[in-house]
Amino acid sequence: MKPLPLIIDCDPGIDDAVMLMIAFASPRLDLRAITTVAGNVPLRLTSRNARMICERMGRSDVPVHAGCPRPILRKPVTAEDFHGESGIEGIGIFEPKAPLAPGHAVSELIARLSAAPPLSQTVILSGPMTNLAAALVMAPEIARSIGHLVVMAGGDRIGGNITPYAEFNVFADPHAAAIVFDASIRTTVLSLDVTHTVRAEAPRLASLRKVPGPEARMMADLLEAGNRLEARWKNGQMAPMHDPSTAVYLLAPEIFETRPCRVSVVTRPGAQFGRTKVMDTERGPHHWATAADADAFFGLIESLLKARA
Ligand code: RIB
Ligand code: CA
Repeated sequence: MKPLPLIIDCDPGIDDAVMLMIAFASPRLDLRAITTVAGNVPLRLTSRNARMICERMGRSDVPVHAGCPRPILRKPVTAEDFHGESGIEGIGIFEPKAPLAPGHAVSELIARLSAAPPLSQTVILSGPMTNLAAALVMAPEIARSIGHLVVMAGGDRIGGNITPYAEFNVFADPHAAAIVFDASIRTTVLSLDVTHTVRAEAPRLASLRKVPGPEARMMADLLEAGNRLEARWKNGQMAPMHDPSTAVYLLAPEIFETRPCRVSVVTRPGAQFGRTKVMDTERGPHHWATAADADAFFGLIESLLKARA
């Protein structure tokens, strides 16, 4: 089967970095371009971190385009508490050999999607949705080219992780999230409801460390750093596999449970600013993930890395 053409928009970020490693490690995914956005850390760092992962995975050929340095309307927020000042705590920082690709991420998204046949493209968003939202405002017709959008965003049963109601990616740019969800693109939403059930617990990391090769070691180092930071701020809990769930979903949707719905976003100021509201409907363009098989989730990641060792 031909590898799935894929674009990833992200804000690396420890878990974004692990997600990129999974995408690169799978021969079934053809990661054609990476676009970066300000989120966990400022744009300069998310863009450097994405290029670092490309280099460490031997994929400096994949273009990394920097995008929006701030959200559409609200004051910028970041999440260094959970990712470190570098945004990629856990691995040594270096300046990647490959420079940023020329062209703003929003222009690149428009160019790639405009040139693509209808419903042919799969896009992952694992940070604030600013870039795709801006692209949809500038060129609404690009929605026709996206056959499947997979986002790490929101929370319903779980509520929020940055406020009691809001998850970080949506809270960091709720207006962008509203634009993307309102575009009625077929979207699978990996929210806190599912990511909180798949955490990098110690036995998972111990098993990962038995996988030979530098990539498994690097992923374990990243996840362990994420755990240290998560435990500090979330009373001893281990880090959820937020962004990796998007790539794992594309590779093994059968290990997830989802429900059809339509997602909207609270953009009015107040306690619920950035909350995702999930309306169950069979005709929904969205699917909300509600559960995942954690054993299968980590088993898939280990098998991908074993095959490359
Ligand atoms: O709420 C989790 C999300 O916020 C993840 O994408 C993480 O990288 C942060 O961006
Ligand atoms: Ca992220």
